[in-house]
Amino acid sequence: MLINGKEYRSVWLEGETLFMINQNLLPFDFGIKELHSYSEVVDSIRDMTVRGAPAIGAAGAFALALAAKAAPDNGFRAYLRAARDTLIASRPTAVDLHNGVQSVYEQILKFIPNYDHARQVGFLAAQEFANSSAEDCRLLGIVGSQLIPDGARILTHCNAGALATVDWGTALAAIRAAHRSRKNIFVYVDETRPRLQGSRLTAFELEQEGIPHAIITDSAAGFYFWKHEIDLVITGADRVCLNGDIANKIGTYEKAVLAHEHKIPFYVSAPLSTFDQSCREGKDIPIEIRSETEIKEIGGVLVANPGSNALNPSFDITPARYITGIITPKGVFKAKEASHKVTL
Ligand code: MRU
Repeated sequence: MLINGKEYRSVWLEGETLFMINQNLLPFDFGIKELHSYSEVVDSIRDMTVRGAPAIGAAGAFALALAAKAAPDNGFRAYLRAARDTLIASRPTAVDLHNGVQSVYEQILKFIPNYDHARQVGFLAAQEFANSSAEDCRLLGIVGSQLIPDGARILTHCNAGALATVDWGTALAAIRAAHRSRKNIFVYVDETRPRLQGSRLTAFELEQEGIPHAIITDSAAGFYFWKHEIDLVITGADRVCLNGDIANKIGTYEKAVLAHEHKIPFYVSAPLSTFDQSCREGKDIPIEIRSETEIKEIGGVLVANPGSNALNPSFDITPARYITGIITPKGVFKAKEASHKVTL
C-alpha cells in the first residue's frame, strides 16, 4: 500500500525481527512497531496494533516462528504448542489467525528433532503464508473490480483495506483496482463504532489513493439506501462457513438486510485464509466480546453514563441468503457454494 508516497505492507519480517504499522496511531500519527518475541505479538494482536483478519493471520504466523526461535530443544514441542494456543486465543473470531498459526506449526513439527532446521523452516513458512495472503488479496482486486460499474456509489463497513491484510485489502482491493482502472466511483465509509476502523483507517487509505469518499455514521446508511444513493455494498469477512454464512465487524448484518430490502447487491470479499472448512454455519463461529470501555470512552474521555453497563460484541453473523456473492481469488461465487468452489 502507498502511504505518503512509500510502499508498505501492514506487517513484515526483516531478518528475525517483525515490524508492523501501528494501526492504533492512525490517521493522526504514522508509527512502526518492532517486535522480537511471540508474546509481544500476542499483545499487539490483543490491543489491535495490528488488526483485520488476514493481517492478524500473517502476524500470528510470524509470531509462531519467533516462538520456535525462543523454544528450548528440551521441551520444544510443549513450548510451541502453548505459544500456538495462546496466539489463536488472542482474537477468536477471525479464522485467518488460526490458519496462519496452525500452518506454520505443522511445518515446524515436520522437522523435529532437527531443531535448528525446524526454526529456520518456521520463518520460511510464515513468510510464505504472508506472501500468499498478499497475492490472494491482489487477485481479489482484479476479480472484485469487475463487479463495480463506472459511476458506482459503494458502501463499505469497517476497514477491509490493505491495513487489514498484508497488502491490497479485501473489499478495498476491489475498490482500489476499480479506481486505478479509471472508473469514476464514490465510497460511503461507515465510521464503525466503537473502534472507528472506518472513519480512521478506511478513510485514511482512500485519501492516500485519492479515491472520492465520505464518512457517514453507522446509523446513516439506511438514509442513503432510501435516497437510492448506494449502488452496491462490499465488505470483508473474518470467517466464511461451509453454508456461506459469514462473520464480519459488528454492524455488517444490518447493512446486508438493508441491501436486501432495497434490492442492492451485497458482496463479501475474502482470501482463502478466511474460509473455515470445519465450520458448518454462522452459529458455530465464536464471537469476540471486547471491553465495555471501548464503548463508554473515547480517547480516555467518558462519553456514556458511568453507572451503566455496555455490551460490546465485536462481530456479527450475516446469513448466506443476504449475500449476493463472495469475491474470492478464484472468482465470484454464490455464498452457499463458495467454500466448496475455493477448494477446486
Ligand atoms: O476488529 P477488527 O478491526 O480486526 O475487524 C476487522 C474486520 O471486521 C474486517 O472487516 C475483516 O477483518 C475483514 S477485511 C480484511
